[in-house]
Amino acid sequence: IPTIKAALLGAGTVGGGVYKLVQRQKDELPYKAGANVEISRILVRNTSKHREGIPDELLTDDWKSIVNDPEIKIVIELMGGIEPARTYLLEAMRAGKQVITANKDLLAEYGDELMEAVTENHCDMLYEASVGGGIPIIHPLKQCLEGNDLTEVMGIVNGTTNYILSKMTGEGMDYAEALAQATELGYAEADPTADVEGYDAGRKIAIMASIAFHTRVKFEDVYTEGITKITAADIRYASEFGYVIKLLGVAREQEDGVEVRVHPMLIPATHPLATVNDAFNAVFVHGDAVDDAMFMGRGAGEFPTASAVMGDLIDAVRNLIQGCSGRIGCSCYKKKHIKPMEQ
Ligand code: NDP
Ligand code: HSE
Repeated sequence: IPTIKAALLGAGTVGGGVYKLVQRQKDELPYKAGANVEISRILVRNTSKHREGIPDELLTDDWKSIVNDPEIKIVIELMGGIEPARTYLLEAMRAGKQVITANKDLLAEYGDELMEAVTENHCDMLYEASVGGGIPIIHPLKQCLEGNDLTEVMGIVNGTTNYILSKMTGEGMDYAEALAQATELGYAEADPTADVEGYDAGRKIAIMASIAFHTRVKFEDVYTEGITKITAADIRYASEFGYVIKLLGVAREQEDGVEVRVHPMLIPATHPLATVNDAFNAVFVHGDAVDDAMFMGRGAGEFPTASAVMGDLIDAVRNLIQGCSGRIGCSCYKKKHIKPMEQ
C-alpha cells in the first residue's frame, strides 16, 4: 500500500483536529483512500510551543522546506487570514501539489485567482470546511445539486453568533460571557469581529452564492449587519411575540439580479431554523428539481471542522492514487448582475 505525504499549515483548533483525526483514522485510510496518509510537516509560527497530541519534531516555521519537498503531495492550509496563506497556496499549486483550505476569507476575496491557478496547474483545490464547519455543503452544491437551477441558498452559517444568540435566548447569558465561551470552545475567528459583525457569514454566503448561481460574488457585494446591537431586551420582546432572533445569510437569484445579504432576522419560534442552537449551522437550498433541501450540523469547532477537511484529504489522496491530477469542478462563471446592497 502506498503512502501519501501531506503537510499541514497551522496547528491551531482545526489543524490540531486534523492531525489527531488522521492518527485516529490511520488503520482505516488504506481502505477509504487507497493509501496510508502521513502528515510529515506542520507549519506554525511558534515552533517552541508544545501542542498536545502533536509530535514537536513535525513542527517547522520554514515554508520552503514544505513547498520544495517533492515527497509532499498535498498541502492543507489551516492558518487563516489572507497573507501568507494566499501566496503559499499559489506556490503549492505551482509546485504540483493538491491543496485543501478552510479559509473563507481568502476564498471570498481571491477565489478567482485561486481557481485560475487550479486550472493552470492541473491540480485541485478542495474547501469543504470553508462553509458550515462539519456540514457537507460545498460538495453538494458543486456536485450533487448541479442538475438544478438553484434559486436560493440561505441559513445560519456562523457558529459563534448562533452560540451567542442561543445562550442569550435560552439561558439569559450576557453577550460578553457567551462570546468568551465561544472563543474558549474554538468557534470564534482569531479576531471575533469577523463573527459578530457578520463578515464571516458574509464570506460564506459569497462562496455558496458563487457556486450555486455560477457567478462570482465577492464579499464586498454582500450587505452585512452583525449582532453587536442586539440587546437582551430585543431578545425578550421577540420571545414575547413568539419569535427568536437569528443571524441569517441569504442569497437569492431574482429576475433583476443576485441579492446577497447577512443580517439578524426574526424567525417564528416554530420554524425549523429557530431550533438550530449552540454552534450548529443549517443551510436551506431551493432548486427547480430537488425542491427544498436542508443541511444541518456542527458549524465550527475542532473535530466537526476536521471532519470536513478529512473528507477533502481522502478525496485528494484518491485522486493521486488514481493518477488523476484533480477533480476540477467547472470554474466557468456566467456574468450575472449582483444587486448593489448599501451598507
Ligand atoms: P487558529 O488561530 O486556532 O490556528 C491558526 C494556526 O495557524 C496556528 O497554529 C498558527 O501558528 C498558524 N499560523 C497562523 N499564521 C501563520 C503564519 N503566518 N505562518 C505559520 N503558521 C501560521 O485558527 P483555527 O484553527 O481556528 O482556524 C484555521 C482556519 O480554519 C481559518 O481560516 C478559519 O477561518 C478556518 N475555520 C475555522 C473553524 C473553527 O471552528 N475554528 C471552522 C471552519 C473554518 P501558532 O500556533 O504558532 O500561532
Ligand atoms: N468562526 C466561525 C464560526 C468558524 O463561528 O462559524 C467556522 O467557520
